[in-house]
Amino acid sequence: MPHETHTGRVQLVGAGPGAADLLTVRALRAVEGAQALLYDALVGEEILALAPVACLKMQTGKRAGRTSMKQETINRLMLRLARKGLRVVRLKGGDPSIFGRVGEEAAFLDAHGVETEIVPGVTAACAAAAQFGFPLTHRGEARRVVFATATTRDGALTESGWAAAGDPQTTLALYMGRDQLAAAADRLISHGRASTTPALAIENAGRPDARAVSGTLEDLAASLASQAFDGPVVLLIGEVVARSSAFTLQAPPLAAEAM
Ligand SMILES: C[S@@+](CC[C@H](N)C(=O)[O-])C[C@H]1O[C@@H](n2cnc3c(N)ncnc32)[C@H](O)[C@@H]1O
Repeated sequence: MPHETHTGRVQLVGAGPGAADLLTVRALRAVEGAQALLYDALVGEEILALAPVACLKMQTGKRAGRTSMKQETINRLMLRLARKGLRVVRLKGGDPSIFGRVGEEAAFLDAHGVETEIVPGVTAACAAAAQFGFPLTHRGEARRVVFATATTRDGALTESGWAAAGDPQTTLALYMGRDQLAAAADRLISHGRASTTPALAIENAGRPDARAVSGTLEDLAASLASQAFDGPVVLLIGEVVARSSAFTLQAPPLAAEAM
């Protein structure tokens, strides 16, 4: 598509997992300089408060099944604001390049002659691992990390790609996987993961109110179902997860029963 007249600039910025002190300095500068801020549902008040008072702030996504702005509407809005000459910041939870649709937005703006800059952010899996004290890779235990989503656009289980996480030396970070955990665990076990593989569900990773439920690939779904988690949840699966404080600080079930 031929470029239209070049106008404006949009920064596509990762806000990190929610705590303001996990913003990058570049992201902070972008927010502080924004004249128009289009933000996703996972971006919290603490970060929005960093934008100038006069900044036009618009929420584009709503959680818990409520309606979100259509992607086409968001794209058109960014374009219109950039063409007005405003400094536009599109703020997304975590890292914009991980399940953040940044590729679609950048391509749309580029096709309309609007310059974009992507500012990375701390993704949920990295925030969770740091907060609960374990590495995503570890010599001799985990030689690769797979960032994956468990669900397709209509909410069903993703059918392809499970073999990529079947290797015992892979740490799997599963996004948008809470409701599909039991089915995802079955797929992983059928692709060679031991049912005893350590697994962790972390809600609100990177925030002061983060909570974790630990278990194994086989039993984590049942443990998670008994928790009233309503914040975003990332699942981490792999041998390194046993190094987490969520495992080491918790009394083993047998010892607890013996008391
Ligand atoms: C559309 S994806 C966006 C991911 C985001 N771009 C990132 O890099 O973290 C939304 C999913 O990310 C995960 N997620 C995002 N923020 C989270 C947080 N603070 N704690 C736990 N999981 C989170 C959850 O699985 C949630 O359903």
